[in-house]
Amino acid sequence: MTITSSSSWQILQDHAQQMQHSHLKELLLDESRFKTLSFAHGPLLIDFSKQRIDQHTLKHLVELAKTADLPGWITRLFNGDPINTSEARPALHTALREQAQTSLEVGGHNIIQDVQTNLSRMEKIVERIHSGQWRGYAGEPIDTIVNIGVGGSDLGPYMACSALRGARVNAGRHLKVHFVSSMDGSELADILGSLNPATTLFIVSSKSFTTIDTLSNAHTARKWLRDASGVNDTIINRCHFIGISANPAKMSSWGIADDNQLEFWDWIGGRYSMWSAIGLPIALRIGMDGFREMLQGAHSMDQHFLSAPLNENLPVLLGLIGVWNVNFLDIHAHAILPYDGRLIHLPAYLEQLEMESNGKSVNRVGEPLDYRTCPVLWGEVGPNAQHAFYQLLHQGTESVMCDFIVSARRYEKTDNESLRSQHTLTLANCLAQSRILAIGSAVQQNDQPVPGHKQYHGNQPSTTLLLDELTPFSFGSLIALYEHKVFVQSVIWDINPFDQWGVELGKTMATSLLKPLQHQASDSEFDPSTHGLMRHIHQQQERS
Ligand code: F6P
Repeated sequence: MTITSSSSWQILQDHAQQMQHSHLKELLLDESRFKTLSFAHGPLLIDFSKQRIDQHTLKHLVELAKTADLPGWITRLFNGDPINTSEARPALHTALREQAQTSLEVGGHNIIQDVQTNLSRMEKIVERIHSGQWRGYAGEPIDTIVNIGVGGSDLGPYMACSALRGARVNAGRHLKVHFVSSMDGSELADILGSLNPATTLFIVSSKSFTTIDTLSNAHTARKWLRDASGVNDTIINRCHFIGISANPAKMSSWGIADDNQLEFWDWIGGRYSMWSAIGLPIALRIGMDGFREMLQGAHSMDQHFLSAPLNENLPVLLGLIGVWNVNFLDIHAHAILPYDGRLIHLPAYLEQLEMESNGKSVNRVGEPLDYRTCPVLWGEVGPNAQHAFYQLLHQGTESVMCDFIVSARRYEKTDNESLRSQHTLTLANCLAQSRILAIGSAVQQNDQPVPGHKQYHGNQPSTTLLLDELTPFSFGSLIALYEHKVFVQSVIWDINPFDQWGVELGKTMATSLLKPLQHQASDSEFDPSTHGLMRHIHQQQERS
């Protein structure tokens, strides 16, 4: 039986028929709506009152969650059952933020101990760099870090380093931190000219240590160091490269010195790995104390997810309301709108987290699904997006669900009045936009009938996620919230959210195109478009 034939699904479909007729401007006439539809945990308040739901919707959604055995799946997730079935592994990112004194056996082995040992090794590396004891080939202390990685080995640390850049908790010397990800070498080409090779340390982050994007960038970085320093590879590797991977053998064969290797494990999905050694750039940026605070924030959300009743459980509600929008209100676009420039990389992070996890059309046993799954997700810093794509949100033909993310407090410790008033202005814009999207309205002029181009139809659902303030702890909670939301949706949709087979074919296809692009004979047959494009590329290259 699929979820769509369950009585809870049918009830929701009937209920959606009724809700289709209610506009948010009417629903929001109910004074008690905020009180009954907003929920808090720790430093995070989530307001669902601008979603096209009522109390019945939540009740029916919770029934749907029970039908899908969500509580059982949550237990299996935290217990380390091999729920990533296509790769026969557990998905234990929650173990990375577990309390040190607990234990969790995987394959007869206490993995919490491994996590703690790794954190201690990471801490020693951070201390060595922060204290100026990690020195480059010429004996000078390292002052610049370049993280080379892509996808899960880039997006999490990149986002966190930006989000938490003002939160240096007992951190030592200030380091410049750069991120390099794109296969075409764009970022390296931009920064190498201004870096000092003698004081630059590269972190090569790759769960598999086989990703060609990362290895190409690492190769270019090492060649640059070799050419600039004139010293041998053993010294370069020892003084200028740290490797982070679940594949130590590959790190060694690339040349990463044993002492410079930090490990994580195949039971951590790449896009769930920023809590592991992959988070080293975060710890270098904000200090190990700050990194541990981030882990505690995530742990607090884990505990809430594990123990709060379904109808008060933040990740459960966030996930279920997303399902409601996709499967019952037919909304397939989701905008992520942080009203905080520090969260500029949150949309890209969530694009991978949500779409690589749940962008699937077969169930856990590989059978095709007959219902919609992950919506298209994109986003931008909200105030900037107001001057770009909000036109479509307000007056376009697409229904879009939006997440507004903002902190109540900012710039409290500065005496810069001007910055404080900029924060108030930002809050006003955030609240204004979600209000207009919900209730719509019209730009009225002199009691004249309002022409169509000045009308706002409203009824676009949104959730507001309000942090007390953006700290390592609240940030950790926020990201764990989204991780668990994705898991909740995967359970309802009967999807394995921890694999990503849909990205594999592109890698082999690119390999088979390399030879013909290098003018080397290939017996592979390509389609006329690919042939035509290759011919044009060759013609252009021959002209230069
Ligand atoms: O190709 C997709 C992917 O495997 C992502 O899932 C992963 O986060 C990224 O590539 C990078 O992989 P790795 O960490 O193994 O280099």
